[in-house]
Amino acid sequence: MLEIKDLHASIDGKPLLKGINLTIRPGEIHAIMGPNGAGKSTLAKILSGDPAYEVTSGEVLFEGKNVLELSPEERAHLGIFLGFQYPVEIPGVSNLQFLHAAHSALLKAQGKVALNEETFSRLLDEKISLVEVKNEFKLRNVNEGFSGGEKKRNEILQMAVLEPKLAILDETDSGLDIDAMRVVAKGVNRLQNKGNALLLITHYQRLLEYIHPHFIHVVMDGKIVLSGGAELAQELEKKGYDWLKSEEVAPC
Ligand SMILES: Nc1ncnc2c1ncn2[C@@H]1O[C@H](COP(=O)(O)OP(=O)(O)OP(=O)(O)O)[C@@H](O)[C@H]1O
Ligand SMILES: [Mg+2]
Repeated sequence: MLEIKDLHASIDGKPLLKGINLTIRPGEIHAIMGPNGAGKSTLAKILSGDPAYEVTSGEVLFEGKNVLELSPEERAHLGIFLGFQYPVEIPGVSNLQFLHAAHSALLKAQGKVALNEETFSRLLDEKISLVEVKNEFKLRNVNEGFSGGEKKRNEILQMAVLEPKLAILDETDSGLDIDAMRVVAKGVNRLQNKGNALLLITHYQRLLEYIHPHFIHVVMDGKIVLSGGAELAQELEKKGYDWLKSEEVAPC
């Protein structure tokens, strides 16, 4: 589904990603961990098409297509979704309006007919109960005045509506209390199926108790320095990241 090959990227001439290799197949959950400033959010933003970053070499293929040539909208229409570490507020636009517009654009790109507002509104009600967010989210302006945890839950609602093939969640767990984390994890798990995939960026092993990744990758200084199974999370929790600096470990 997603193939990242020797991806290098920089900003203002400063290298941030220094050769990322990663393959994600349908049905898989991958977690990315690593210290602050390692390049995790940079990778997520580059995958979603943030124009601030310059890809200097390497390839990103999504279902065989070179996504680096595509606009953020085209990537979203292919089924790539990014849940932000810091979700943006959109004053004056309700979640209903915003999600209806995004959903309509997605259907149009797929050659389908958009739903009318009434039908979409019913779909949104279903998704709101699926991911267990407050009904009032529907008519409130996108993220405006939302608490940190509510913004993260709203990202999961967006994901539920757009049903991406590949969801990239950047620290969806940060700022969540333990109950909210369980609810968010439950929502994410309900949205997983054999045909889609998830790339989770997280600092905490705690989230991975609720969402079980098939693979964990550690990013340090713009590279994947270690990949392993779910058990790696506990090891990292115990040992931190410093021991990896001196290890001669093969990137995945
Ligand atoms: N727009 C930018 N301008 C300048 N430097 C940037 C920019 N975006 C990222 N960087 C730098 O790139 C490095 C990687 O940042 P990134 O946000 O990817 O880290 P991260 O692994 O997500 O960290 P955290 O765990 O703290 O979220 C950092 O040193 C950061 O300062
Ligand atoms: Mg980050």
